[in-house]
Amino acid sequence: MAVDIDWNALGFNYMELPYRYEAHFKDGAWDEGGLVQGNTLQLNVGSPALHYGQSAFEGLKAYRTKKGTIQLFRPDLNAQRLQDSASKLLMPPVPTDQFLVAAKQVVAANADYVPPYGTGATLYLRPLLLGVGPNIGVAPAKEYLFTIFAMPVGAYYKGGMVPTKFIVADHFDRAAHYGTGQSKVGGNYAASLQAGKYAHEHGYGDAIYLDPIEHKYIEEVGSANFFAITKDGKRFLTPQSPSILPSITRCSLLALARDRFGLDAEETQIPITSLADFAEAGACGTAAVITPIDSITYHDQVHQFGDGGIGTVTQRLYDELTGIQFGDVPAPAGWTVTV
Ligand code: PLP
Ligand code: COI
Repeated sequence: MAVDIDWNALGFNYMELPYRYEAHFKDGAWDEGGLVQGNTLQLNVGSPALHYGQSAFEGLKAYRTKKGTIQLFRPDLNAQRLQDSASKLLMPPVPTDQFLVAAKQVVAANADYVPPYGTGATLYLRPLLLGVGPNIGVAPAKEYLFTIFAMPVGAYYKGGMVPTKFIVADHFDRAAHYGTGQSKVGGNYAASLQAGKYAHEHGYGDAIYLDPIEHKYIEEVGSANFFAITKDGKRFLTPQSPSILPSITRCSLLALARDRFGLDAEETQIPITSLADFAEAGACGTAAVITPIDSITYHDQVHQFGDGGIGTVTQRLYDELTGIQFGDVPAPAGWTVTV
């Protein structure tokens, strides 16, 4: 069946597709789960996900290759990270096998909505784990719901691979060092709404957070990690912090920068005052892919990277990463999974 979608015009917007996956945890075990239709959940009003933020999620994409096949990018790492987030919020982990089977089922059932090769668009999968059931005190739920829904998406930041302006919002913190910053949990995103609104209202793509203790080191962007390339073009640096999300894209870029481009790729503290050391910078994530950073505004000072174009290293990393994701470039072992 051909679906009537202008694939080239897609942004990062909600769309309801025919099928999603749903499984339930009750009496200490997950049921087998399966595909369901309809995107409305019926939850008890006391559900801890609703009151106390006992909710975790993931984001991954399905890519249409030139041959017409469909593949996922490192979905085992999303399964693992959802388990880590679950453990942080005292939720039962979704077993990796169940996660992978569910993701494949959702993609296969909605295959008509996986955008054609060459459009740059992808099918975005949103796995979601919620503490549900009747509760009122602050305590973990006894029952859980796991669902994966999906929709075709284009670029997250306007234009996609287009240099974008960011602003340091150091009058806001995203997460605390011993808090939930490393977990992909709903509360972190609720905490990012004010900073995001501030950035957007001032004409920026998004906010950059600094470390919550000294407000000295770069943490990440509201929905992506940060990286920078030194002026000599030899080092790929990305922040080391206990309160940022361990991005799967960034972990992949670290490996590609080191193993395929021979760069010195390192996680390290990056002082916000060291921007002059870098020729290029970018935001990276599943939704953001790689978004080059045009400039960073910090306390009314604008630091411009390069001449406003896309840096050479950033472009090479983008081509390699997306080449692997769409099946045009050989993937390191285990990075792509055919649906
Ligand atoms: N940082 C935050 C706060 C995010 O929401 C995301 C998106 O998932 C990322 C970083 C990038 O992570 P990944 O590359 O695993 O999508
Ligand atoms: C992702 O990149 O998958 C994200 O979850 C980022 C954002 C949409 C919250």
